[in-house]
Amino acid sequence: MSTPASPPAGQFDQAAVAVRARGVGKVFRSSAGEVSALDGIDLTVSAGEFVALIGPSGCGKSTLLRLIADLDAPTSGELTVFGKSPRAAREAQDYGIAFQQAGLLPWRTVRGNIELPLELHGVGKGGRAARSAELLDLVGLAEFADHFPHQLSGGMQQRVAIARSLAEQPSLLLMDEPFGALDEMTRERMQTELVRICRESQAAVVFVTHSIPEAVFLADRVVVMSPRPGRISEVVPVELARAAERGDDLREDATFFAAVTRVREALHGGSPAVGARGVDVR
Ligand SMILES: Nc1ncnc2c1ncn2[C@@H]1O[C@H](COP(=O)(O)OP(=O)(O)OP(=O)(O)O)[C@@H](O)[C@H]1O
Ligand SMILES: [Mg+2]
Repeated sequence: MSTPASPPAGQFDQAAVAVRARGVGKVFRSSAGEVSALDGIDLTVSAGEFVALIGPSGCGKSTLLRLIADLDAPTSGELTVFGKSPRAAREAQDYGIAFQQAGLLPWRTVRGNIELPLELHGVGKGGRAARSAELLDLVGLAEFADHFPHQLSGGMQQRVAIARSLAEQPSLLLMDEPFGALDEMTRERMQTELVRICRESQAAVVFVTHSIPEAVFLADRVVVMSPRPGRISEVVPVELARAAERGDDLREDATFFAAVTRVREALHGGSPAVGARGVDVR
């Protein structure tokens, strides 16, 4: 976890950077042939920054997230998480993950699933109960604490997975279309909650979505990717109110619609309205 206090000179960059990708590529090889999923990805996500990844289906968004999460390894380039290898960051429990499939353990209750990471890392019974109660409230599932996953709808299961990803207050959240299965009202509520959680925990987030309004509402920067091999085609800074002031009013604000238009144009192949092409515009 990075701290706001000044780190010793020379360590500043490392502490302030959650994810750094330099020339990251991924080629999948199988008997069916080779698929180049990612090529030359340069991306820096600062500590506490919210970055949304958007792009056509198959452009490598999930693959990039899986590389950061150490669920797979790049075939080229360099990738660090808080200055460490993805493996070391995973071992240090620097991040929480919530992917599109909820991935809950069917034999554990909702509460049991949320408490799992805490249990694995030796948090005592009292601490676990307090934290899971807090998270159950957050995702609106307090009444379902003792239910099993198969007794929940898809959207409810997804909310359990989100609560679980937050259990350890990670300094980096990796989220792959986590709200895809939610109804529109729940989705907006979860977005607002996520903004609040990030503000409070100062977690950095890499968030994959297919929804332009969702990307714009949540992110400090929207990274637009192009089809295979997946490359970053534009990085659109979202200059809305600071996340701290982002509330539901923003969804009806002219600056919000302007940012939505900029991302849409970037997705459709660039436009004069968008600033520097390529990568890492900071
Ligand atoms: N384990 C794998 N083995 C072989 N090819 C893979 C594997 N995982 C992904 N791919 C390929 O890599 C490419 C990128 O896949 P990825 O799942 O990252 O796309 P995506 O951007 O997340 O798409 P979507 O928006 O549909 O979720 C695809 O062409 C896919 O077929
Ligand atoms: Mg995907």
